[in-house]
Amino acid sequence: DVIEADGLVALPGFVDLHTHLREPGREDTETIETGSAAAALGGYTAVFAMANTDPVADNTVVVEHVWRRGREVALVDVHPIGAVTVGLKGERLAEMGAMARSLAGVRIFSDDGMCVADPLIMRRALEYSRGLDVLIAQHAEEPRLTVGAQAHEGEAAARLGLAGWPAAAEESIVARDCLLAGHVGARLHVCHVSTAGTADVLRWAKARGTQVSAEVTPHHLLLDDDRLETYDPVNKVNPPLRTSSDTKALRAALAEGVIDCVATDHAPHAPQDKDCEWSAARPGMLGLQTALSVVIETMVRPGLLDWRGVARVMSERPAEIAGLPDQGRPIAVGEPANLVLVDPEAVWTVNGAQLASLAGNTPYEGMRLPGVIKGTLLRGKVTARDGRVAS
Ligand code: DOR
Ligand code: ZN
Ligand code: ZN
Repeated sequence: DVIEADGLVALPGFVDLHTHLREPGREDTETIETGSAAAALGGYTAVFAMANTDPVADNTVVVEHVWRRGREVALVDVHPIGAVTVGLKGERLAEMGAMARSLAGVRIFSDDGMCVADPLIMRRALEYSRGLDVLIAQHAEEPRLTVGAQAHEGEAAARLGLAGWPAAAEESIVARDCLLAGHVGARLHVCHVSTAGTADVLRWAKARGTQVSAEVTPHHLLLDDDRLETYDPVNKVNPPLRTSSDTKALRAALAEGVIDCVATDHAPHAPQDKDCEWSAARPGMLGLQTALSVVIETMVRPGLLDWRGVARVMSERPAEIAGLPDQGRPIAVGEPANLVLVDPEAVWTVNGAQLASLAGNTPYEGMRLPGVIKGTLLRGKVTARDGRVAS
């Protein structure tokens, strides 16, 4: 079995710190099997499955189910993320220790889709995380500043009469938790940075020695609130699409290393939750199969990252942040490869109906994007090849 690699770029398999797989609870929109297929086709060899499932992944039963199912499907390493608190609006810390020590070996805990607003709960989680050697990932939203928010607070939202999500709702809580993490000597990971001001906060926190890492989504690198013009709910996402000066600042911060990595925030939704009024639509967009192409478009083509840099932001840094020793490296001598082969010159047209996800909510529908993934290998085994998953 030969893969023709003439003219292709080889990169270490990608690691996604932020994927919504919807199992258990919304298997009509994505399952661990369909999400794993999308991941393998997107060049990923490891994904972290976000905790806002139904039931919430705040206990060992749910995280072990996700872990076991990922192993059975065997297209990508699926690492469950645990919820920081119990339930969607939890006031009480989840049993992080039990999940960390379980079969699933949970190493990241997050409030994504759940929002820990209470600084005392966040402080306790950070303190607890130190002893367990796990990472707290924060959704970067002060929910008391986003009540009713439908879009980035700015000109475009005002023109359309949509309640605004201010940049300060993100920046204030990121600053707060950087200070708390520094104070207790814990690590903090910031999810989906979306504003220029958050990049400034991170630059400041890193300069003063805080152990903070951060991710940016492909959609916040490419898309801005010009997209509000059409009212198409496919563009509704949390945090919202910001301004073109934000996308510019995010690209610069990723090139500089102030933002460490790219994470998809892959968020599949059912047609009825997107083909409706803007205010009724659920936030989120697909990302696994388009991430690399958007990174090439926004970072490689303008000369902000070379291929070495792509390997860093898509694979090495996320593997380091999550503490995955067997990911994030090109082939080590004598070890089976976690590898992706990319045709950097080829261009493809995005078609949501053809993506492996059960859902079709891609904001890139009909766009021609650069970079085609020709093959993905997980520990030496081909998981995807020429747009098909291995059977
Ligand atoms: O856009 C989003 N979608 N943001 C979140 O925080 C949650 C996610 C989801 O679960 O759909
Ligand atoms: Zn989020
Ligand atoms: Zn998310």
